[in-house]
Amino acid sequence: MSEVVKLERHDVIAIVTVNSPPVNALSAAVRGGIFECMKSAIADSEVKAIVLTCAGRTFIAGADITEFGKPPKPPGLAEVLDLMESSPKPIIAAIHGTALGGGLEVALACHYRVAVKEARLGLPEVKLGLLPGAGGTQRLPRAVGPELAVKMIVSGDPISAAEALKNGLIEEIVEGPASGGEAFALKVLAEKRPLRKLRDDDSKLAAAKADISIFTNAVAALTKKARGLEAPFAAADAVRAAIELPFDEGLKKEREGFLKLVASDQSKAQRYAFFSEREAAKIAGVPDGTKPRPVERVAIIGAGTMGGGIAMSFANAGIPVTLIETGEEQLKRGMGVMQKNYEATAARGGIPADAPAKRMGLIDGKVGLEHVKDADLVIEAVFETMAVKKEVFEALDKHAKPGAVLASNTSYLNIDEIAKVTKRPQDILGMHFFSPANVMKLCEIVRADKTAPDALTTAVSIARKIAKVPAVVGVCDGFVGNRMLAQRGKQSEKLLFEGALPQQVDAVVTKFGMPMGPFAMSDLAGLDIGWRSRKDRGIKSEIADALCEAGRFGQKTGKGYYKYEGGSRAPLPDPEVEKLIDETLQRMGRKKRVVSDDEILERMMYPMINEGARILEEGIAARPSDIDVIWLYGYGWPIYRGGPMFYADQVGLKHIADRLSYYAKETNDPSLEPAPLLKRLAAEGKTFASLAQQSKAA
Ligand code: 3HC
Ligand code: NAI
Repeated sequence: MSEVVKLERHDVIAIVTVNSPPVNALSAAVRGGIFECMKSAIADSEVKAIVLTCAGRTFIAGADITEFGKPPKPPGLAEVLDLMESSPKPIIAAIHGTALGGGLEVALACHYRVAVKEARLGLPEVKLGLLPGAGGTQRLPRAVGPELAVKMIVSGDPISAAEALKNGLIEEIVEGPASGGEAFALKVLAEKRPLRKLRDDDSKLAAAKADISIFTNAVAALTKKARGLEAPFAAADAVRAAIELPFDEGLKKEREGFLKLVASDQSKAQRYAFFSEREAAKIAGVPDGTKPRPVERVAIIGAGTMGGGIAMSFANAGIPVTLIETGEEQLKRGMGVMQKNYEATAARGGIPADAPAKRMGLIDGKVGLEHVKDADLVIEAVFETMAVKKEVFEALDKHAKPGAVLASNTSYLNIDEIAKVTKRPQDILGMHFFSPANVMKLCEIVRADKTAPDALTTAVSIARKIAKVPAVVGVCDGFVGNRMLAQRGKQSEKLLFEGALPQQVDAVVTKFGMPMGPFAMSDLAGLDIGWRSRKDRGIKSEIADALCEAGRFGQKTGKGYYKYEGGSRAPLPDPEVEKLIDETLQRMGRKKRVVSDDEILERMMYPMINEGARILEEGIAARPSDIDVIWLYGYGWPIYRGGPMFYADQVGLKHIADRLSYYAKETNDPSLEPAPLLKRLAAEGKTFASLAQQSKAA
């Protein structure tokens, strides 16, 4: 008898229950258990129908991702599904939680499916750089039609039980999965319904068979945003095979595509990202079982760019917020921006029509810091000046309730110094959100010297609750993300002095897969802020200064490193900038040289990786994968490249260390010398990943 799959009989109905926490993934044991239980139930002459259901929080959430890349263990999923679909007795999948990937494929091989109303059903393989590998691309189009099927498969997004019912993916919405499944099975028997084998049912494919453009148009729209990714295209091809080929040939095509993708670098990177994200939520050095403090109400200080976005993130998750400003005027402006933002999303169909009013109803605008008194968590998002932050935290210390977690959204400032002005340093930490805060998923949780373990756990857990990806970091200038970014910024600026143009540098970075290059990003942020700060500090950056002196502040003035025409945000190379750079270099007596794209790529990426190595050495990040999570979710690092530290391991640390030494000499820049940790790993022929394995073993 299987440990993870159980067979019971209720009169003529066999109930097969998978119980393999946490998510009933299809490990070899689960596959074997289902196979054996199904065989016994089919062989039992007393049994007339079979219900497949799951214990715990969810129906089967997919293949066991940890098994990918390892030698396959029998039985294969295809074999299990074949047995089920060929069963002479009806099999009913009774779904709760999430039926995802291989889980939905199991359900599709059943003859009927029912689900509770909260259930979600989907084929998210593409998010792991894969395509559904157990018949999903062939059976789903037969269940719901190729248009919806390809949408689900290429986007990877699940649908609700209600949508599943409307589109024929499930037969009924039931109250409880097991009881509902059993009642449905009795109905199937009473009505003597024929077995519905999706493999034999081509009725929903007819329209696309007659006119493939129905399908190809849908694919063109769906793959528009899939720049650089292999899986969405391969998945669409497999669905096309369902339309054009007989079932078994389609299955073969799907299998080939799956095997190719599972071995690809892209899928390896995407699977790594999946586990890294979950690993990042486990806080190094916090005692096991540390419970988060309850958070029922949040206060946010400052209704500017960040405060507004953060408030929206909480309201989106149904958590009430007190949003505090210095005056009615500022408050009105901040509330107005949020209202408009919600309305625009609703107009696009991104949220229901009544959501703006509901969500704004959760945000209570107030003037005066005394209004923090009911909040369990306070997030400060005021101006980036230490004096202002200290003033705010002194007031918070006075007004916040005991035990409230007090967080700063500072981008660079020292949280230890902020904590010192309060009498409760154990409750102080950083929660560094990224702009736009209602969209970007990353939240760097900054652990200060005296932050209590349960304050840290509270921040991580609430970040997850509002659908952010938390990563714990230590105190340093710019924390992890911005500190690494500064190294790239320094090199991009230097490249202009050597002969590269902004558009050349940006093109290399976007071709690599980043959403934006450093110069387009500077234009977006505004060049004047840095210019003023350089002036205050008596520092020069001749090209950037010359741009600002010519009134080119970036997008907001229609000109910066690029020009912007007719209110468009699209950066256009500008011959005037080229001239301005030439003149500046001539004035400085600098000679231009041809800078190759390869050099640009290395000088954009390797100094960041080098800084990542320093960050690890200093313990500012606990794991290389935490750094990768920060780059994936805070800076748009392409998921199929895993993150900078993962990418470094792919390239090889010795090569990176050698190239850094080379550039340090060639460009007379000692800051490019490889960090000690990078040097050591390179000399030992090791990877950053080996550090994570070491610390797990310790
Ligand atoms: N395989 C192995 N482990 C898995 C897993 C899977 N498919 N899905 C989740 N886990 C693990 C997580 O790593 C985590 O482990 P940890 O506690 O040790 O960190 C634990 O289960 C809980 O996961 P979450 O923290 O993500 O729990 P949530 O409740 O937030 O989310 C979920 C649950 C929605 C099921 C989410 O885990 C998820 O999206 N899982 C992946 C689903 C997926 O991609 N399925 C397709 C797999 S590929 C496939 O099926 C190929 C097939 O076509 C042949
Ligand atoms: P902002 O200037 O848009 O907003 C700041 C708001 O704080 C203003 O509305 C101001 O009236 C209010 N404020 C100032 N003092 C206050 C006080 N004592 N009480 C209540 N409200 C007060 O600034 P922004 O961009 O939102 O930045 C806020 C913080 O977030 C800064 O620390 C910044 O470094 C950080 N940050 C900014 C990011 C960005 O891209 N803008 C990204 C990540 C962090």
